Amino acid sequence: MEAPHSPAPEGATATARLTLHAPEQTQDLGRTLAKLLRPGDLVMLTGELGAGKTTLTRGLGEGLGVRGAVTSPTFVIARVHPSLTGGPALVHVDAYRLGGGLDEMEDLDLDVSLPDSVVVVEWGEGKVEDLTDDRLHVVIHRVVGSTDDDRRVVTLSGYGERWAGVDLALG
Ligand SMILES: Nc1ncnc2c1ncn2[C@@H]1O[C@H](COP(=O)(O)OP(=O)(O)O)[C@@H](O)[C@H]1O
Ligand SMILES: [Mg+2]
Repeated sequence: MEAPHSPAPEGATATARLTLHAPEQTQDLGRTLAKLLRPGDLVMLTGELGAGKTTLTRGLGEGLGVRGAVTSPTFVIARVHPSLTGGPALVHVDAYRLGGGLDEMEDLDLDVSLPDSVVVVEWGEGKVEDLTDDRLHVVIHRVVGSTDDDRRVVTLSGYGERWAGVDLALG
């Protein structure tokens, strides 16, 4: 994993960049990241289709010790994975189909309290920023356009008090 020199995203209170070379590494990153997460945390995942957002979330689910397979939430708006270990549930959201933003989720009757959960949102850009000052934004890019190249560059940016001073240089 390397850390090329580049400016931190504007407004971020913590940032890190790493290169991953295989899906397993992306899943591992999720598992490692899970150790940093607390109830009420919001994680936004950005990246084109096939970038690895769901793969990362699968690792998060493993790291959090939640029930149920993490799969693409494309055909549901949100899926709740309860904790098997007394920790926070994982709420995995596909914001693509969420018109208004996360406040709309309160109407979904998810049977879980968002402040007690870790909420991971795919396609949340432009929809969830206004709802909380604190969020972890994970951007995943293919290094090259080719879909058979496994390299991904991941940028982690924490925003708000929650992430101030948190070391995101994982791995
Ligand atoms: N380094 C990598 N990280 C994550 N996924 C990878 C990587 N290299 C190849 N892949 C493949 O890319 C696809 C990513 O799919 P997925 O995680 O569902 O993406 P998204 O949710 O962003 O659409 C999987 O088929 C996975 O095996
Ligand atoms: Mg996905």
